[in-house]
Amino acid sequence: MPHIPVLLNEVMEILKPQKGEFFIDATFGRGGHSEKILEAIGKEGMLLAIDWDKKAAERNSRFLENENVIFVNANYAGLKDILKKKNLPKADGLLMDLGFSSDQLEDSGKGFSFRRNEPLLMSYGEGGLTAREVVNSYSEEKLARIIRDMGEEKFAGRIARNIVEQRKIAPIETSFRLADIVRKSVPNGYERGRIDPATRTFQALRIYVNGELENLKTVLGDLGFILKEGGRAAIISFHSLEDRVVKNYFRELKRSGIAELLNKKVIMASREEAVANPRSRSAKLRGIVIKINK
Ligand SMILES: C[S@@+](CC[C@H](N)C(=O)[O-])C[C@H]1O[C@@H](n2cnc3c(N)ncnc32)[C@H](O)[C@@H]1O
Repeated sequence: MPHIPVLLNEVMEILKPQKGEFFIDATFGRGGHSEKILEAIGKEGMLLAIDWDKKAAERNSRFLENENVIFVNANYAGLKDILKKKNLPKADGLLMDLGFSSDQLEDSGKGFSFRRNEPLLMSYGEGGLTAREVVNSYSEEKLARIIRDMGEEKFAGRIARNIVEQRKIAPIETSFRLADIVRKSVPNGYERGRIDPATRTFQALRIYVNGELENLKTVLGDLGFILKEGGRAAIISFHSLEDRVVKNYFRELKRSGIAELLNKKVIMASREEAVANPRSRSAKLRGIVIKINK
């Protein structure tokens, strides 16, 4: 499946990258948004591209030859320190296109997708917590809480109970086995067939394993160290938990007079984009500009 950057024109409209500016793409992925930003900032500009998945750089080696691009394989939660370590100034713009990429669903081999039979890892980086560890060692109560809170799954209790039952028979090692357990835990006609019954549980485990909400909150809390006065941030989220964090934080910055919202209403994909790229249907874009940064 070709990679189509989500809400590309809308992101460019929020960020308005200008010739010679310094931009950060904290979720580089396939570099779809980065490519457009690079075009706009031109040869005099600079782009710091970050991705926790080291394969992002391997998949996009053409970007590494560009002398205006600095690629860092790291968790964006450390962005403030990355700037310091690399001796980089505060940026004119920051983009975060949250979650996973279509590449990771299709060829990461890490079990992000319930449609592929892969080892149950679900971690963007290497060597950290894995979904396998979570489903095979956490208590039923803790599993239920993760699936309920991070997947907004109403059958979390039943799913957790079945995970614990099934792991007694044999450890749960693959995405297919987990998806099968989840599908058998929910009633027929789940969500009226709109989504696979495994969707919410897989989302919950991915968010938990990678600490996605904590990472996002860390960057939001550090925006004053990351963006200069007049610097813009655009954040695309794909589920309500993330969007709520971004919305509340941006409102708080506005209330305290530190930033202005760049869109009063959340920006969503047009009908044409939603048809061409189903992933864009759940995307929500919010932007702010920093007014005061002392
Ligand atoms: C939706 S994709 C970005 C797609 C990109 N905008 C494009 O157009 O190609 C999200 C990317 O963010 C990365 N990512 C997720 N969490 C991260 C984190 N905490 N730190 C750094 N990268 C992260 C993922 O590995 C994935 O490649």
